[in-house]
Amino acid sequence: MAELFPHYIEFRHVHKTFDRPVLVDTNFEVNAGETVAIIGRSGVGKSVSLGHIMGFLKPDTGRVIVSHRDITDFTDKEMRQIRRKVTMVFQNGALFDSLTVGDNILSSLELRDDYDMSNKEDVVNGLLEMVDLLDTRDLYPTDLAVGHKRAIAIARALAAQPECVLYDEPTTMVDPIMSDHLGDLLLRLKTHLQLTSVVVTHDLELMRKVADRVVFFHEGRVAYFGPVSELEQTDNPNIQEFLAMDRV
Ligand SMILES: Nc1ncnc2c1ncn2[C@@H]1O[C@H](COP(=O)(O)OP(=O)(O)O)[C@@H](O)[C@H]1O
Ligand SMILES: [Mg+2]
Repeated sequence: MAELFPHYIEFRHVHKTFDRPVLVDTNFEVNAGETVAIIGRSGVGKSVSLGHIMGFLKPDTGRVIVSHRDITDFTDKEMRQIRRKVTMVFQNGALFDSLTVGDNILSSLELRDDYDMSNKEDVVNGLLEMVDLLDTRDLYPTDLAVGHKRAIAIARALAAQPECVLYDEPTTMVDPIMSDHLGDLLLRLKTHLQLTSVVVTHDLELMRKVADRVVFFHEGRVAYFGPVSELEQTDNPNIQEFLAMDRV
């Protein structure tokens, strides 16, 4: 039995270089039930960090803990077990355009071998209710606005009953009202399902709404890791600049 670590997710001195160093001695952790936002400019390694959590990417050096286990050297087979518990909501939603919204969610439910399928209609309806989109059940993804597609993608991810959900830029290309709805949805999931989540975003409004703690990446390094409430008080000029950009 592998050792269990106290944090749900932890990056320990993670280094990752592609054509240039992207993650340099990256350290942060996410506790079970906590929501951590990862913010920073484009290209700083936010999505690369999520790739490490999913095990799609491996660090050059350092350790990655996920679901309380050190997954750094996990095989594909071992990672498949982890990916039953930790799921990612991709930006494009990854919905099948040829299936209705309801059938998209059903197709995710059917991936679970341990599901009692006798009440599958109820489960699909329940998931759609949770994201407040029951009335879209018989529509096709192409009929939906981007924000609704994201919410359906979240419902689809929840069908697998994950412990942890990773969101990559959930509110990008979504209008402000829909962004607000998505933020409310993330908050609801956090409080009702005690989900552990990591939200990559440059939407500071979303960060303030849902995150307990925040990781700020700058030039490969973690420039800040701490409570959202204390981010604005830091005197780091890069953080101040980032926050100021949002005000204009
Ligand atoms: N699989 C990969 N192979 C090579 N370079 C990559 C790969 N994934 C990401 N990168 C590079 O790593 C850097 C950080 O990317 P990314 O994490 O996607 O940025 P962001 O913070 O905007 O999400 C970028 O320069 C990107 O080109
Ligand atoms: Mg990205």
